[in-house]
Amino acid sequence: MYNVRDISLWKEGEKKIEWAKRHMPVLNLIREKFKEEKPFKGITIGMALHLEAKTAVLAETLMEGGAEIAITGCNPLSTQDDVAAACAKKGMHVYAWRGETREEYYENLNKVLDHEPDIIIDDGCDLIFLVHTKRTELLEKIKGACEETTTGIIRLKAMEKERALKFPVMDVNDAYTKHLFDNRYGTGQSALDGIIRTTNLLIAGKTVVVAGYGWCGRGIAMRAKGLGADVIVTEVDPIRALEARMDGFRVMKMIEAAKYGDIFITATGCKDVIREEHFLKMKDGAILCNAGHFDNEVSKKDLEKLAKSIREVRKNILEYDLGDKRLYLLGEGRLVNLACADGHPIEVMDMSFSNQALAARYLLENYKKLEPKVYRIPYEQDLFIAKLKLKSLGIEIDELTEEQKKYLNDWREGT
Ligand code: ADE
Repeated sequence: MYNVRDISLWKEGEKKIEWAKRHMPVLNLIREKFKEEKPFKGITIGMALHLEAKTAVLAETLMEGGAEIAITGCNPLSTQDDVAAACAKKGMHVYAWRGETREEYYENLNKVLDHEPDIIIDDGCDLIFLVHTKRTELLEKIKGACEETTTGIIRLKAMEKERALKFPVMDVNDAYTKHLFDNRYGTGQSALDGIIRTTNLLIAGKTVVVAGYGWCGRGIAMRAKGLGADVIVTEVDPIRALEARMDGFRVMKMIEAAKYGDIFITATGCKDVIREEHFLKMKDGAILCNAGHFDNEVSKKDLEKLAKSIREVRKNILEYDLGDKRLYLLGEGRLVNLACADGHPIEVMDMSFSNQALAARYLLENYKKLEPKVYRIPYEQDLFIAKLKLKSLGIEIDELTEEQKKYLNDWREGT
């Protein structure tokens, strides 16, 4: 069963999937193993992820492992219609298209849940949240879930604290081979990619304001600097603010940074990070975008309130004319790397999705022993993925000698 924009687009989608597959060596090895062992035989996996080519490779890997797949997007602007069509052609249950309304978005999440999944794979926690609020009849069958992103994990930990969480969740975001690469180098490159593709403007010489200095903010600031921008960081966490300063960036309040920025990029996981008081201080022509999971970091409500008129001036660029200045919002304030580009580079998603695939298997093998809590990914899984990735890059590393191991383990041994 499927509901996609246009099934005839599948060939273009298939090309994108094949290209992605070619650059995902770790996930390909896992796929071969799954093909042989069929760990998901008889299992339905419900997925809500950004439905683009790399995600399709993950879904196919799980399908090859014996799973029935029901999939939708996790953001109304991140589904690629040709990829969704290709997934449907492969026999997955697909309910997704780019530009879904809010109602359609929730209808599609519900359609995935209608397949009564045993396991959920989520990005942003919308599917998990829906089961816990409106589809509680499904709780009994669900063995657990895997969550991909920082924002989702924040929501889940709040649920855990209130004892509202009803099944175990694997914190895929917490894996080193996920956040150190995906959040930092992935968001760093793909956010800039989205801005550059959409605006066709030069980054060198611009003042780029990065809100939030978590792993995503660090990556964005690093890449903007690499392209020649003068980078300002805003933060609420004193330690992160200090780190940003020592990394060489100017750090100040948003109300101050608002005066200087040519391009603003939010990556905080919080809401209303840029709002009315900030818009009022901005320069004519300032560009606004978001790299956090939800579209509430740049307040569209305040922009709409202030604007005398709103129009699309170029694909994916909305102009808000405030009378004395014009401000430009990219990709409706949704994830700029996915709404305005193709998401993270393939090689980093190779590791993120290898983590998802292995976490799903871990959950299936261990759910009876697990409690309704948020669980860290086993360190051995991280090591396994890192070793395979290094191997695929042709990199060999040193090993400790027996003497060195003894030295490190014996607290009596001096220098
Ligand atoms: N492509 C698929 N999932 C993604 C994610 N969570 N972030 C960026 N690109 C992606």
